[in-house]
Amino acid sequence: MSDTPTLPAVSREWHLLSRPVGWPKPEDFALVEAPLPQPGEGQILVRNEYLSVDPYMRGRMSAAKSYVAPYELNKPMQGGAVGRIVASRAEGFAVGDHVLHFGGWREYAAVDARHTVKVDPEAAPLSTYLGVLGMTGLTAYAGLLRTASFKEGDVVFVSGAAGAVGSQVGQLARLKGASRVIGSAGSDEKVKLLLEEYGFDAAFNYKSGPVSEQLRAAAPDGIDVYFDNVGGDHLEAAIGSLNQGGRIAICGMISVYNATEPAPGPRNLARLIQTRGRIEGFLVGDHYDLQPEFVREVGPWVRSGELKYRETVVEGVENTLEAFLGVLRGDNTGKMIVKL
Ligand SMILES: NC(=O)c1ccc[n+]([C@@H]2O[C@H](COP(=O)([O-])OP(=O)(O)OC[C@H]3O[C@@H](n4cnc5c(N)ncnc54)[C@H](OP(=O)(O)O)[C@@H]3O)[C@@H](O)[C@H]2O)c1
Repeated sequence: MSDTPTLPAVSREWHLLSRPVGWPKPEDFALVEAPLPQPGEGQILVRNEYLSVDPYMRGRMSAAKSYVAPYELNKPMQGGAVGRIVASRAEGFAVGDHVLHFGGWREYAAVDARHTVKVDPEAAPLSTYLGVLGMTGLTAYAGLLRTASFKEGDVVFVSGAAGAVGSQVGQLARLKGASRVIGSAGSDEKVKLLLEEYGFDAAFNYKSGPVSEQLRAAAPDGIDVYFDNVGGDHLEAAIGSLNQGGRIAICGMISVYNATEPAPGPRNLARLIQTRGRIEGFLVGDHYDLQPEFVREVGPWVRSGELKYRETVVEGVENTLEAFLGVLRGDNTGKMIVKL
């Protein structure tokens, strides 16, 4: 399709009005109507079709210095998005092409073409470029294989296991020869999904009892790898069950993202001495060199259905904030996506 669409005069975009303290409140945000942005030289105008809402965005709402700049107040928020080009002033980018870019949280975005990646809607559903074949998929791949130095025969434990990253970590571990894969999640339905659909060997609902006890029961011979999406009592439990030479990849700590006080650290760090254990944090942004290998290896598993994925799809730009809050609450199974 290369016909030039009729464009509206305005576009809706989300602004951050004030920096949330604790759980974000609707009053901290506004959906604002703004004149349709005009693409400058080298830019494209994209009509977004899918927006990503991700836990890391909570960090960008605070002013604290981090690896990504805080959202500016009263300016459009940003995030991953996939959309269709509706006007182009960039060579090689035609009206009708689809791109992955960072002008999310809005309907239309004018973005520098060189900061976008063309995606093919025929090769895979567009939303998957935000999830299983996108940033969260690469996070699982890099964190498990590189940071946690996964090897065949490892016993792997992953928290947030029914989420976008976690569900992929568990399945990757299984497909690459883990001897046992254990997951934790926040509801019995999610636990059932892990066992029945994703092929986990054991899974538990972390809300049903102490994580350390449930993990010990699920991994009687201990764990070699812990992929941490949650922090807090999950991390302490994992250290408590860590085997000799065990590795812990710190991907996220969603249990503390809305905390107003520093969270207490694990009380059993001394176990790392006897186990020669290693804990290492990582950021997916440092591992984009793995992208070709990731697509080559994981793409066929996704296409064949050996690696399954779920998406929770919320419709309408006006529901983007609710979708984001839903991720923090655990409303999602798999990647949370907003469809426009
Ligand atoms: N390091 C990196 O480069 C990188 C990149 C992407 C993501 N991450 C991190 O990876 C983690 C997962 O991200 P994602 O995009 O895949 O999100 P997700 O897992 O799809 O969604 C977040 C999930 O966290 C769980 N959760 C919320 N509060 C919790 C709590 N207090 N205790 C335990 N679980 C809780 C909820 O599931 P339940 O129903 O199971 O509670 C929710 O569905 C996050 O920590 C994120 O910050 C890191």
